[in-house]
Amino acid sequence: MTPQHTDITRTWFFTLLLMSGVLGCGQIEAEPVLDRDGDPIEFPPPLENWLLVSTVTSDAETQPLRPSFLIQFNQYLQEDSALSYGVVTLRSGALSASGSYTPIMVKKAILWTPYRDLRDSFEYTLTVSGSGLRSVTEAPTPPDYNKSVTFIAAQEAQEHTAFELKFTQDLAWPDIKDIFAQRGCYACHGQPDWNGLNPLTYDAMVGQKSEQTDLQLVRFKDPTNSYLMHKILPDYPVRRGTLQPPEWSASRGITSEALTEDELWLVEQWIRQGARKTKE
Ligand code: HEC
Repeated sequence: MTPQHTDITRTWFFTLLLMSGVLGCGQIEAEPVLDRDGDPIEFPPPLENWLLVSTVTSDAETQPLRPSFLIQFNQYLQEDSALSYGVVTLRSGALSASGSYTPIMVKKAILWTPYRDLRDSFEYTLTVSGSGLRSVTEAPTPPDYNKSVTFIAAQEAQEHTAFELKFTQDLAWPDIKDIFAQRGCYACHGQPDWNGLNPLTYDAMVGQKSEQTDLQLVRFKDPTNSYLMHKILPDYPVRRGTLQPPEWSASRGITSEALTEDELWLVEQWIRQGARKTKE
């Protein structure tokens, strides 16, 4: 077992212990867990529908002294909850490193990158603290949920699997339009006069409100709050209407395919980079 696994097991052991104490025994009256306003937080049934860290990977192999960490969750995160708390801490004894957060929707993850190089051969502990984190379905983390990963900067580089996240720079609308065209989106969305659907042009989406929610279809630099993403991510849990393209396309003889994860990632990066119209 790696230290990482031991920590997970330990966290779970205590979580289970805590919950069996709280839930398994009739006599003990559980202390209600309160939110910041002092109102009790409703918890889902044990071990179901909690927001949990599922994996922590780093690109320590390629960036030994300034590794980014991809912290993946089992559910989509509410972006403000992920960014406004001290969710990630990285420490080595009294040294602590601060870093930048980037939500990565296609991975249900936060990408965390230290601002400065870590100290060579120092042992660091990266801790993800659950308190305050929420999923888009409002699922909370278990009480006192923390997950830690310990590693030695640089030296242990080989032991971390590099994450599969290729970044593409300078994306512009033509790149995204090509994807939509190849996937057959315009079979339906290309005839707005006839069916009234959003034409999926740059001007009809960027900065424009969706017809189904108050969100913008594409909000500059903010994929998490861009309704387009909610409509095309296959397992995104909160949306009106159907996943796009709708499953019924084929039965109407319309050839349209869902975007692959790589394509979804390109759309997300395009929005994050500022949803530019042209390359210049
Ligand atoms: C078979 C026809 C069809 C195809 C193909 C199709 N759509 Fe749609 N789309 C619809 C319909 C109908 C709605 C409205 C009902 C709904 O959302 O389920 C819609 C709604 C949407 C919305 C919400 C618009 C708003 O204002 O809220 C977006 C975004 C969208 N589609 C994007 C796409 C993308 C991207 C593709 C290609 C991957 C695609 N659609 C392919 C029929 C289609």
